[in-house]
Parts: sequence; C-alpha cells; structure tokens
Amino acid sequence: MAKEKKGPEGVPAASGIPRHIAIIMDGNGRWAQRQGLPRSAGHSAGAETLRRVADHCRELDVRYLTVYAFSTENWKRPADEVGALMKLLERNLIIELQKMERDGFQMRFFGDTGVLSPRLQELIAASHQLSDRIDGYQINVCLNYGGRDEIVRAARRWADTVRNGEENNLDEETFSGLLWTAGVPDPELLIRSGGETRLSNFLLWQCAYSEFYFTDTLWPDFTDETIDRAIAYYRSRDRRFGGLSAAGGGQSR
Ligand code: FPP
Repeated sequence: MAKEKKGPEGVPAASGIPRHIAIIMDGNGRWAQRQGLPRSAGHSAGAETLRRVADHCRELDVRYLTVYAFSTENWKRPADEVGALMKLLERNLIIELQKMERDGFQMRFFGDTGVLSPRLQELIAASHQLSDRIDGYQINVCLNYGGRDEIVRAARRWADTVRNGEENNLDEETFSGLLWTAGVPDPELLIRSGGETRLSNFLLWQCAYSEFYFTDTLWPDFTDETIDRAIAYYRSRDRRFGGLSAAGGGQSR
C-alpha cells in the first residue's frame, strides 16, 4: 500500500491542510544585519528559504503558495538594495524555469510587471507560457504588487466594461475575476514572518476571511517546523465566515 502522506502532527494531509497559503516574507534585512552582512545577503538567504518552504508546502498537498516579493512601496528603498533584489529575482527565475516542467509546478507573477527590466519581463512571460502547459502546484510571486493598486485597476477595467455597454451587473465573483489573482481561490491562511502584525497592502481583497499567523521568526530562519506550526494554528481555528460556530456560541465576524 502506498505510504499515507502525513501533515503536521501526523494527521492525514487531506484534512485541514489549507489549499492556499500566502506569505509576507519579512525580516531578511534584520537577519543579515545581525550577522554583520549586507541586507542583500538577507534577501539571498530569503530566496533559499522560499525554495525550502515551497517544497515543504507541496509535500503537504498545499495547491497554491503566494508570496510577497516586492511591493509597490519597496521602490522607496536605496537603489542598490532594489537593484540587488531585481538581480536576485532574475537569477532565481532562470533557475526555476529549468525545473518547472520537469517537476510539474507553475510559477505566476502578480503585479505591475510592465515597469520591470526588459530581461525580467521576458523571463516572466516565459514562466507564464510554461505555466499554461502545467497543471499542478502553483507558486505566485507578487512583484511590484499593491493590493490597493490591484483593486483600483480592477475597478477601472469594470468601468470600461460598463462604458462599452458589455455588462453592468457587478457581483463579488465578477470583481474577483478582474484581479491579478483571477481563478486562484482565496488564501485560507496568511503567514507573516519578522514580528510585524500588519498586511502592508498585500492581498487586501483576497484575505477577507483568511486566518492570520504572525511570528517573530525572521524569514531566513523559517523551517518546515515553522510552517507546520502555522498550519497547526490554522487547524485550531473555528472558521465561521460570519455565521455561527458548529458547536453553537455567539455571532462572529
Ligand atoms: C522583506 O524583508 C523582504 C523583501 C522586501 C524581499 C523578499 C524577497 C525575497 C525573499 C526573494 C524572493 C525571491 C524569489 C525568487 C521570489 P525586509 O528587507 O523588509 O526585512 P527587514 O524588515 O528585516 O528590513
């Protein structure tokens, strides 16, 4: 008999594993500074951590992993740090492009990528083309991404649709389909490393009912166990979606 795949705490992966996990990978800079290294070394270590965490989530049967790699606000950082981050993304994307088909995972990019370097845009286009042929685990990298920007763009697209007389009946499902994340189910679990407890303009629409797990662990220090702890926390939550608990109890938001 095939070995049963186990989730955290030995529970079968099929039950209680989030289909979609979103992560704000915070703390790279502090991790590097604590070791007397330049901040860019923290981002490189962070990229390695992402690789490990992505593998672990896949083993657990998570279907979608969405990470915040660069926000619309991150341009305010020193030019050398922004440059190093862009180079790091480029290098990693080249490596992952070689593996996507063989290992059967998709890699998609959400955000205003049209302002990135021509080389990075080329790599992103290649990644999307490959992903269209792959039906499997999906890693979404939010790059030059802002949740408000995403919502405003969707609203503009909707306004165009109405102006062209194509349609004028807007509901939540239709609006979701106008976002960069169209077709991706909302994350059940959002994790933020590095000790801050805010959303920082990440997946504002999509996280309406997500469970939030915040930890002081810096992103480069994340291990499989940190992810297992976040999932165990998620599994301990009573998700009521504004209704009443199955066990009874009060009204909830
Ligand atoms: C936040 O930490 C992290 C970022 C702005 C960059 C995250 C990017 C990576 C981990 C690389 C991703 C690579 C791929 C291939 C997608 P911070 O710099 O704000 O840390 P601090 O709060 O300690 O200063």
